[in-house]
Amino acid sequence: MEIVAVINYKGGVGKTTVTSNLAANLAWRGKNVLILDMDAQSSLTFSFVTPDYWDKSLKDTKTIKNWFDCISQGNPTMPLYDLVINPDVVNSFLKSNEKTGNIDLISSHLGLINVDLELATLLGGASPTQTQKKYLKVHGKLREELKTLSEEMNYDIVLIDCPPNFNIVTKNALIASDKILIPAKPDYLSTLGIDYLKKSVDSLINDFNHYASTDEIHIEVNPELIGVVFTMIQILSGEPISIQRQYIEQTRKLDVPVFNSKFRDNKTMFADAPRDGMPVVLKSYSNKTYSDIVTEIKEFVDEFNIKLGI
Ligand SMILES: Nc1ncnc2c1ncn2[C@@H]1O[C@H](COP(=O)(O)OP(=O)(O)O)[C@@H](O)[C@H]1O
Ligand SMILES: [Mg+2]
Repeated sequence: MEIVAVINYKGGVGKTTVTSNLAANLAWRGKNVLILDMDAQSSLTFSFVTPDYWDKSLKDTKTIKNWFDCISQGNPTMPLYDLVINPDVVNSFLKSNEKTGNIDLISSHLGLINVDLELATLLGGASPTQTQKKYLKVHGKLREELKTLSEEMNYDIVLIDCPPNFNIVTKNALIASDKILIPAKPDYLSTLGIDYLKKSVDSLINDFNHYASTDEIHIEVNPELIGVVFTMIQILSGEPISIQRQYIEQTRKLDVPVFNSKFRDNKTMFADAPRDGMPVVLKSYSNKTYSDIVTEIKEFVDEFNIKLGI
């Protein structure tokens, strides 16, 4: 079982699109997948359930916000199991194709944005030991509970869709992860952001391990950056346009692994998929461009599986 954080400081770079398509194709290949939406924008959640269903059945008691609220209010957390749902459209589709894979979802909540401030008030302490205990509790809680859930539910893989910031909720996701995947657009600011993100992750891991090394309960963590996957690629004569190629090359020089496979730019295709509850990689297209894009996503999943050894 592997826990993978999908992260970038920037919003709108394709994190959620990569997460949902990766999850869907892994399930198609027979994997038991959990997706965890930790972004207050809740795009991943609304890619698999309708806003109506979320409003009626999830909003009040079954989102990751409810779980973080317990921590910030000093109450025991509910088991993560209580938050897991099995989105209907995508799983019915998998079953109707006689696939054994499955996608479970832990939903997000638009109010998750406020949780960070509340968690931050729990940090600090009168003594260094108290500071250490509080730091580990506030940042390491998700790791403990996600491991327990994954073992209970026999997940092959957990994908965490992170918010575009580096707040405490995001830090929980990174601490909980075995691997880190960075979707990025090949442009100037995104390329700058990757280097900065890498340094922030390193410093988070150092801080956490500094405290964990002398603690009896928490163990040290070492999530591995498996790579940058480029998204919204514009193709001309069979390859990315020149300016995008330059940024891809520049990223390779940053000493981070870069996926060979990429997500091509296609607004028409990607924009409507969330509304149908089905990632594009599960759909069949007669249009050649669209079916080529689906093939490219599957190639990305091949490469992902090789990197993870699954
Ligand atoms: N490869 C792509 N080509 C064109 N549009 C895309 C692509 N990937 C995502 N999008 C669109 O861009 C927007 C942001 O994508 P999203 O995956 O939600 O990014 P993030 O999670 O990083 O904020 C959405 O409207 C989505 O439909
Ligand atoms: Mg998103």
